[in-house]
Amino acid sequence: MKLLKITPRLLWGILLSMIASLLNLYLPLLVRHFINLKQFAWSGLSKKVLLLGGLILIGNLLVSSLSDYLISSEGDRQVRQLRLRLQKQVLRLPQKYFDQQISGNLTSRIINDVNVLRSFLTETIPAVVTGCLTILGTMLITFSLDWKLTLLMLLVFPIDGLVTVPLGKISEVIADQTQSSLAALTGVTSESIKQIKTVKLNKTEEDVFAKNAREINKLYRLSLKGDRIAAMIGPLQSMLSFCLIMAVVLYGTLRVKSGSLSTGTLGAFMMYFFQIIGPINNVALFYSDRKQMLGATRKISEIINETAEETAGKEQLAVAPGSSLLRLDQVSFAYQDLPVLEKVYLEARSGEKIALVGATGAGKTTLANVITRLYPVAAGRISLNGQASTDFSLEQWRGFFSVVLQENTIISGSIRDNLTLGLNRKVTDQELWDALALVRLEEYAKKLPKGLDSLLGESGKQLSGGQRQRMQIARACLRDFKFLLLDEATSNLDADTEKIIMTALDRLKRTKNCGQITIAHRLATIANSDRIYFIKNKTVVASGSHEELLEKVPDYRRYVHEQQLKEKR
Ligand SMILES: Nc1ncnc2c1ncn2[C@@H]1O[C@H](COP(=O)(O)OP(=O)(O)O)[C@@H](O)[C@H]1O
Ligand SMILES: [Mg+2]
Repeated sequence: MKLLKITPRLLWGILLSMIASLLNLYLPLLVRHFINLKQFAWSGLSKKVLLLGGLILIGNLLVSSLSDYLISSEGDRQVRQLRLRLQKQVLRLPQKYFDQQISGNLTSRIINDVNVLRSFLTETIPAVVTGCLTILGTMLITFSLDWKLTLLMLLVFPIDGLVTVPLGKISEVIADQTQSSLAALTGVTSESIKQIKTVKLNKTEEDVFAKNAREINKLYRLSLKGDRIAAMIGPLQSMLSFCLIMAVVLYGTLRVKSGSLSTGTLGAFMMYFFQIIGPINNVALFYSDRKQMLGATRKISEIINETAEETAGKEQLAVAPGSSLLRLDQVSFAYQDLPVLEKVYLEARSGEKIALVGATGAGKTTLANVITRLYPVAAGRISLNGQASTDFSLEQWRGFFSVVLQENTIISGSIRDNLTLGLNRKVTDQELWDALALVRLEEYAKKLPKGLDSLLGESGKQLSGGQRQRMQIARACLRDFKFLLLDEATSNLDADTEKIIMTALDRLKRTKNCGQITIAHRLATIANSDRIYFIKNKTVVASGSHEELLEKVPDYRRYVHEQQLKEKR
């Protein structure tokens, strides 16, 4: 049990609840005393017994309240710590991990499985500790009162065990399946909401509903199973306990009549009987509760034990100001077993614009991902000014690049939130407006009632595709960087707007003396690059200016020709 900790606060809570149990053990003895009194008068012994009883009840109340609070607040504290730890870990897991996960499932693990651990810490452990104490104490006291009646009462153990042990075994399985099923349901639900447009446009509401309904029904069947068991076992347990109580009462009454047992002792036995039923159940269920806890621990540990990206731990390396040279030498990369890049070379300098060109699926985005170290290379070397990329901390290395991804990276929040995402410096409103002007979004933003603070909706739902791309370019330009990396960043823009933005970026490149790496299809976007890297068959097959490549590389000529045909259409 490494995820949960037995802390002093928890121990104090358990100690107090043990004291409460001891007080509870004393009460029946007082009742026995009271019943056995020869006469009742508000004086002497009766008064003492009643006062003591009252004191014990009040003491019990105080001790129990304090104990409950200590234990639950400790549970809450540990849940919080575990959730924080999980969040931190999840944010540091490598991209590769997320490629294989359904985000909803992961979310459910982080939120729901932690609750299983909490209930083990705050319910099972205290209940079992105090339960054992109560059972042991009861046995000691009742044996000393009357061993024959105690033996009869002891029958409660096998009878209760008959019922709770199988119940525990089944509920253990059900609980484990319920957690998995809940994770799956969260997964499909969040995906169908995220992809609602795709669902609507492909008219696949019924299929998606059927898929979600399958998970809901699975969960329902699991609950029903649990309900059925509870419905059978609960009343059966009550009935058996009732029979046993009757047996104790009958036998006890006979003994009272024969004069070998006092009425008070019989009364005390009844109270002890009721007191130990709960603890016996709790102790009997310990094994299955523990199994549930271990299941949740295993799943959470899987996340915690995943190897995280090494984000910290390296000192900032000094990088000479001014011009930089980014270089890839013999770089190879594969997704699991699928080789995508083999022996790629590439150079990008400050003040230069280079382009990566190739058919879809050629590996351009992958190359960009490898450059920014979203994925580690399998072989080869990436370096900045001769210094290997892996000598830099991830944080410092990623700081060299400002990236506009092919996919939508607008977050829910305002224009300001989106533009300043990840910026660790203060920016003035004027800077933000300038960035919007650069991508020609100034007019649009000015018309919004809240200006820079207008909300854009989840993933920028309230923007058009082109506006979204321009917003991402504006965001990229506001950052400090050595290389601007644009992956199909202007593909949704009309040719004129694209030209204006590219010209603005050229100007930015010169004033900031940064490099620009562009991935694009449109010939006008790439033709004026200082160097074009033509990617085919997993590698860079040729590089040079547009004219050079046109002249020397037939494959490139063919690519350009096909592209021209597409653009004419
Ligand atoms: N996360 C991933 N896991 C596995 N394979 C991937 C992943 N991303 C891309 N690929 C595969 O890698 C190849 C190159 O993809 P990509 O770099 O996106 O191409 P491009 O950007 O040139 O269109 C494709 O065959 C694609 O299926
Ligand atoms: Mg791509």
